[in-house]
Amino acid sequence: MSKDTSNSPRVHKSESPEKIMEKLVSLSKRRGFVFQSSEIYGGLASCWDYGPLGVELKRNIKDQWWNTMTKTHDNIVGLDAAIMMNPKVWEASGHVQSFNDPMIDDKTSKIRYRADHLIEGYIKSLQKKGKIEESERVHKEYETALNNEPVTKNLYDLIIKEEIKSPDSGAFNWTEVRQFNLMFHSPLGAVADGSSIVYLRPETAQGIFVNFHTVRESSRMKIPFGIAQIGKAFRNEIVKGNFVFRMIEFEQMEMQYFIKPGTQMETFKAWQEERMNWYIERLGIQKEKLSWYKHDQLAHYADAAYDIKYEFPFGVEEIEGIHSRTDFDLSRHQEYSGKSLEYYDQDSKERYIPYVVETSAGCDRLFLTVLADAYSEDEIDGENRVCLRFKPSIAPVKAAVLPLMKKEGMPDIAMSLIKDLQQTFYVQYDESGSIGKRYRRQDEIGTPFCFTVDHDTLQDQTVTVRYRDSANQERISIDSVKTFLLEKLF
Ligand code: GAP
Repeated sequence: MSKDTSNSPRVHKSESPEKIMEKLVSLSKRRGFVFQSSEIYGGLASCWDYGPLGVELKRNIKDQWWNTMTKTHDNIVGLDAAIMMNPKVWEASGHVQSFNDPMIDDKTSKIRYRADHLIEGYIKSLQKKGKIEESERVHKEYETALNNEPVTKNLYDLIIKEEIKSPDSGAFNWTEVRQFNLMFHSPLGAVADGSSIVYLRPETAQGIFVNFHTVRESSRMKIPFGIAQIGKAFRNEIVKGNFVFRMIEFEQMEMQYFIKPGTQMETFKAWQEERMNWYIERLGIQKEKLSWYKHDQLAHYADAAYDIKYEFPFGVEEIEGIHSRTDFDLSRHQEYSGKSLEYYDQDSKERYIPYVVETSAGCDRLFLTVLADAYSEDEIDGENRVCLRFKPSIAPVKAAVLPLMKKEGMPDIAMSLIKDLQQTFYVQYDESGSIGKRYRRQDEIGTPFCFTVDHDTLQDQTVTVRYRDSANQERISIDSVKTFLLEKLF
């Protein structure tokens, strides 16, 4: 019988998506994964804090990404650029002018919506009601509205024509549609006249573009090469909710791969394949819950864009974008800064502005992906249990050491094993409650292995190893616990 069944199917009792999300949010708070930011003051919408187990899990996800990018590719190097940059960066990137969402307010409830989401929701509701022809007609009109100026007026007219009602109040009492820039900004220093505005970056990518030359020269990279970065990004999102899926302060893991113009399609395909495999192999995500979404409407600077999507309890949503961004970003920074960002290709003896393929994932979304994917409920020894079936290498706690009883020297042996394991792994010691209860506690936080020190340990220096997913047990020598973990975890 297989002992390590981390790939066994997750068992959900047939429950509504809302109920599953409620359970994830409640477990996250109860066990210290994630809780609302500044909760004692009533919190702040779309801001969440990571607790003791949450930071471990998130760090493990980030480590997997960082190690894959920078250690398994000798042509990808790291960067940690400042969050705040010269404001010209955001003019050059186009964010000041066009990093907007179209918003509309329900004058009755005072709730703000994204006008595009409102229409998309309406189209979905028509489909659900079986009104396929009508939904197709509205979809066509929606595309026309998006592709023609003025977009805000077009969206407004469509909402009014279709008499789309407010999802919360049911009212049909809308303001005009306005564009809303998603960048947070603040005056810098003592000057408050608008002449020195700084922005909180809405993506980490621009820090990579503006450092392209310096990083390439200092690390002596030749094209093709990549720069990887993990860091905070900020967006004043109109739509909030779905736990850590959409936040106003979040973390991104982005990699820009600089290439010779003309090679972008083969590079794009290679990164698509690599990124999808990473989710399955490195994060242990169930393959059947992942899918591709192809963007047919491309941004003016892109020549290909796909999203990796995951089937969350609340729907299939984007977790990572892979974009072929041509030479748009470097060209714009060259133009706005007046500094050459050209590359001299010694092999082809050509000078060009490199093209870029980017992979852009959100850490918080991956955190939620890992959590939702791992969540399972099953029955062990006639008892219901919640079990987080994390891939062992990303589990926050790698192992627990449990003395069967608080006597006969068992706690001392367990503590000495803990001290030894702590040098290498994040482990927990637990001596309180029945052994069954202690196993359940560890199952609920996804600890893949429990080592129990019992009477036999006193005789033959062996411990019981209990596997989280199957609850199977076997005995191994106490001296081999570390090697056992090293083999199972890496
Ligand atoms: N540089 C490209 C870029 O930023 P994006 O599709 O806007 O592309 C990339 O964002 C990823 O960042 C998304 O796939 C998502 O995982 C994450 N992300 C974006 N906005 C987010 C938000 N408000 N909250 C949490 N994650 C977000």
